[in-house]
Amino acid sequence: MGIPSKHTPRKLSYLFPCVLGLSLFSFTAILLYKVDEFVSRTKTVVGHNLKPTPWHLFPPKTFTEETRHARAYKIIHCTYLTCGYNSKDAAAQERRRSSSSSETTQNCPEFFRAIHRDLEPWVRTRISEAHLAEAQKYAAFRIMIVGGKLYVDLYYACVQSRAMFTIWGFLQLLRKYPGMVPDVDIMFDCMDKPTISRKEHQSMPLPLFRYCTTKEHFDIPFPDWSFWGWPEINIRPWQEEFPDIKRGSQTVDWKSKVPWAYWRGNPDVASPIRLELLKCNNSGEWGAQIMRQDWVEEAKSGFQQSKLSNQCNYRYKIYAEGYAWSVSLKYVLSCGSVALIISPRYEDFFSRGLIPQQNFWLIDPINLCPNIKHAVDWGNEHPSEAEAIGKRGQELMESLSMDEVYDYMFHLISEYSKLLHFKPKPSSTAMQVCVESVLCFADQKQAIFLNQSSVFPSQTSPCTLPPA
Ligand SMILES: *[C@@H]1O[C@H](CO)[C@@H](O)[C@H](O)[C@H]1NC(C)=O
Ligand SMILES: *[C@@H]1O[C@H](CO)[C@@H](O)[C@H](O)[C@H]1NC(C)=O
Repeated sequence: MGIPSKHTPRKLSYLFPCVLGLSLFSFTAILLYKVDEFVSRTKTVVGHNLKPTPWHLFPPKTFTEETRHARAYKIIHCTYLTCGYNSKDAAAQERRRSSSSSETTQNCPEFFRAIHRDLEPWVRTRISEAHLAEAQKYAAFRIMIVGGKLYVDLYYACVQSRAMFTIWGFLQLLRKYPGMVPDVDIMFDCMDKPTISRKEHQSMPLPLFRYCTTKEHFDIPFPDWSFWGWPEINIRPWQEEFPDIKRGSQTVDWKSKVPWAYWRGNPDVASPIRLELLKCNNSGEWGAQIMRQDWVEEAKSGFQQSKLSNQCNYRYKIYAEGYAWSVSLKYVLSCGSVALIISPRYEDFFSRGLIPQQNFWLIDPINLCPNIKHAVDWGNEHPSEAEAIGKRGQELMESLSMDEVYDYMFHLISEYSKLLHFKPKPSSTAMQVCVESVLCFADQKQAIFLNQSSVFPSQTSPCTLPPA
């Protein structure tokens, strides 16, 4: 009996650290598990923990972080620990509020009137929380601006870095006009095709922001991400890209430009008109040169062939819609060549400023090749008129400065906010997003573009919106 009594204290003294160790281990395991679970529920502007939109599938995103641990750290750090006190912005807001805005402002361009038309469906009914709940079914994310801060609810991943650059645009607007952007609650879809058909949603129009619309849709057009940059195909922010294209266009004078129509792009985007266009690739017969853009090859060769500023030495540039509208419209118009626009079905926010035969040439898609040929022949017989059309197209794009883009966003958001039938507040699942948190998630190239497209508080007020 002496043996057990001799052993018991020893056993106990071993047991205690064991229990302690075991509980510490379990505690850590539970903690790690909880952190893991927490991280796996945290959705991010780059698309962590988000599935592609079900209405437009694309390959799931891959992430560059090397380990799970590194990813978890990044998600927690960027999401929860970067938007602390934005004391600088708050101070700027105060300054703005107290500064008298007695300066006289310019009138906005005519095409801003389209804002009234886009929002007309809700003028009588106004926009209720029920409208938004219904529109959410078609949205990739929700933008809430409350007290000058931006909150985002992410529902689905957007292809490439669209979400990041679109949200960046909102953040820059808040920076440019501190204290002036009203509280709003916006449902946004980042994919190409409008979805709120006027016929189907006649009884209850749903307000949904996206990059384009058509006459048959209620979707509300908003400037697309590429104004802030499209790193995947090396398209820099608009205020960098436009001057470069314009410089490129001036390297050869009109007479020395190739007297043909030129198109370069990706025909494999389920666009019937682009496939049709391939048939016109014959400079002798149709006066057109149609080139296929292989973005994978281009990326490998450092985007040398696709530099937009090198594509302006043709007298005519063709614009053909892609899967829906195409961001290339603004680059085509920037060249100072006559833009041959194949009758577009989609509108983006600024294309409402286009006037046929004034700043572009409208091409009927029926008998496409002969119509291109006709435009080219006419232009070559009337060189000064053709040059003038090209120039007016370029001027339209020159006036579409980032200042004008922000003014459009400002007025669209302001007019939209007047229609809200409730006081916007961040939803229970919303996360605050700030300049620092977006930069925190950005990779090297994205960070360069984001940095280039960041703004300072404006010294002047937005232009004055013409009445409805
Ligand atoms: C169009 O023709 C040119 C020259 O003949 C050729 O280099 C180019 O590959 C053709 N484009 C397509 C899309 O086939
Ligand atoms: C951002 O831009 C500023 C000047 O515009 C420059 O000084 C700074 O180095 C840039 N930062 C990055 C990360 O590119």
